[in-house]
Amino acid sequence: MNDKILVTGGSGYIGSHTTLALLQAGYDVVVLDNLSNSSAESLERLECICGIMPEFVKGDVRDRDLLDKIFTDHNIRAVLHFAGLKAVGESTQQPLDYYSNNVLGTVTLCQAMANANVLNLVFSSSATVYGDTTQMPLREDIPTSTPTNPYGRSKLMVEEILQDLAKSDPRWSIALLRYFNPVGAHQSGLIGEDPNGPPNNLLPYISQVAIGQLKQLSVFGSDYPTQDGTGVRDYIHVQDLAEGHLSALKAISLKPGINIWNLGTGIGYSVLEMIRAFELASGRTISYCVVDRRAGDIAECWASASKAENDLGWTAKRGLTEMVSDAWRWQEKNPNGYRR
Ligand code: NAD
Ligand code: UFG
Repeated sequence: MNDKILVTGGSGYIGSHTTLALLQAGYDVVVLDNLSNSSAESLERLECICGIMPEFVKGDVRDRDLLDKIFTDHNIRAVLHFAGLKAVGESTQQPLDYYSNNVLGTVTLCQAMANANVLNLVFSSSATVYGDTTQMPLREDIPTSTPTNPYGRSKLMVEEILQDLAKSDPRWSIALLRYFNPVGAHQSGLIGEDPNGPPNNLLPYISQVAIGQLKQLSVFGSDYPTQDGTGVRDYIHVQDLAEGHLSALKAISLKPGINIWNLGTGIGYSVLEMIRAFELASGRTISYCVVDRRAGDIAECWASASKAENDLGWTAKRGLTEMVSDAWRWQEKNPNGYRR
């Protein structure tokens, strides 16, 4: 039996791009996903791109019996754990679902990993754990601060649980990857972000305005202390993010304990800059209006990318034009996402 990587949430947006990068790098992959926010079509598209389909198990990361069976049936060497819920607004309405999927899901996974003696884990964390600090760029050694919503709190809780776990047993090798704002799609236009219902995030919203499915973008506030008054974020191409996971996976096999890395570019763009870049790439006009600030939003946020560069030899290579062009190609080729 070859060594395999288990990818939870592997049919979702970031998980599918990372699964592709793993397959292309020669890894054998098992995907576990309950399809609560994705379609298995994404995995079929992987086969169109690289000629290989990962093994797929439909199921829930909270299902301990299923996890035990996966670890018995496959020679899993490490787990990339993407599975979880991610909508900030929804988390305020359904907090128990967020704590169950994100926190209980991770605890159950780690229990099954410990039982199977699989002790290498890469976890999808978020820049949200930095809270509303204004110290830019955000470095990994800035103290975390409690996020203002259940989604963010679930990420911080999992980070703390995993730190406790690594302290309790030095054989664990764990990477906490703090993503900034993932955008874009694979350059083939075959896989990409496919939100359920109206998007919460900026880029998918802009894309759906461009294709004519939504009328107008609401720009949340133009009175922030930023270059043009709109919010500034560190957008990172999802393929760069996927490559960052491969680098982290290699690094933790040599470096036990807890390792925290930001995955960002180190560059911030405003909402208006994103709109302009998208208009240039797509040749479409993005209709927008400025409305009040969105509750809980911070003015600006970008990463210090130097720790990942020093430790992993990884930096994001794709710039803004590639991010918005690839997002547009995916949207144009798949106006209804994976629903043909
Ligand atoms: P996504 O919703 O596209 O992918 C998550 C996948 O997990 C989906 O396929 C979903 O069906 C699956 N899933 C959810 N709960 C599950 C469960 N209990 N058992 C099995 N599968 C389950 O989201 P994404 O954007 O690809 O995000 C992946 C991870 O990265 C998430 O943990 C998310 O919180 C984190 N993250 C995302 C962003 C972002 O902006 N996209 C930013 C920071 C962190
Ligand atoms: N924005 C708009 N209009 C929209 C959507 C967003 O003006 O319709 C603005 C926001 O106010 C913000 C920027 O676009 O200034 C980016 O907003 P997103 O919703 O795309 O992303 P956020 O930075 O708010 O949130 C993202 C992830 C969260 C994560 C957070 C912290 O969605 O999961 O980054 O890293 F917690």
